[in-house]
Amino acid sequence: RVYEDSKLVSLAVASEIADLVRQRAAEGKHCVLGLATGSTPVNVYAELVRLHKEEGLSLANVVTFNLDEYFPMQPDCLQSYVRFMNEHLFDLVDIPKENINIPDGTLDVEQVADWCRNYEAKIESLGGIDIQLLGIGRTGHIGFNEPGSGTESQTRLITLDRLTRIDAASDFFGIENVPRRAITMGVGTILKARKILLLAFGENKARVIRSSIEGEMTPTIPATFLQQHPDTEFVLDQAAAAEL
Ligand code: GLP
Repeated sequence: RVYEDSKLVSLAVASEIADLVRQRAAEGKHCVLGLATGSTPVNVYAELVRLHKEEGLSLANVVTFNLDEYFPMQPDCLQSYVRFMNEHLFDLVDIPKENINIPDGTLDVEQVADWCRNYEAKIESLGGIDIQLLGIGRTGHIGFNEPGSGTESQTRLITLDRLTRIDAASDFFGIENVPRRAITMGVGTILKARKILLLAFGENKARVIRSSIEGEMTPTIPATFLQQHPDTEFVLDQAAAAEL
């Protein structure tokens, strides 16, 4: 799906999420959202906040699972994805705090494997993810599933690609400050979501968008594995779609 600009993408995606949240609430059910960070989803969250504040949308039945977090990372740190989500969404709407799940960057390294298994089990126990939002990195990563990540990969500790660390350098005031690792849902975790919406904006993403949609499926570009998912949409602005 291609829209004229990123703002229109964000409005359309937020309204799709809001529709499902309302429908589930009417059925007395919860709605499980898989959430992403980065600059791309910021206006989706802004629109959900607006719908909550101005149009009475309640998110009280929403359960969230975030894709990833740097490791190690303290939640109050400027670059923490916990902090990002609090500032852009969680502190501004009525999602119950106990419904919010984000990979924990404060664990000791030997605790991580168990923690990741529990994360997977918790997603399953809630009936799986209804809508998974994704951005995409220039390496073709989804979440932090860097090149080499297979379709069976689960939530785990991974080593960040150099290009990803270069792209994050400005956020961290220098590449030397960018963590070398992260905890991420796996490609396999993502592919279990019932619906996936990958958003991408700007000419910087045009190349990786073309490879992801038109290229052969390969672990070298993990986003290509979305081709095997029955209900995935790439929702793009014109610049990101320019090479299709
Ligand atoms: C980080 C995140 C990804 C995100 C990517 C793109 O690597 N872990 O989930 O998709 O950045 O970021 P942006 O949306 O700022 O281009």
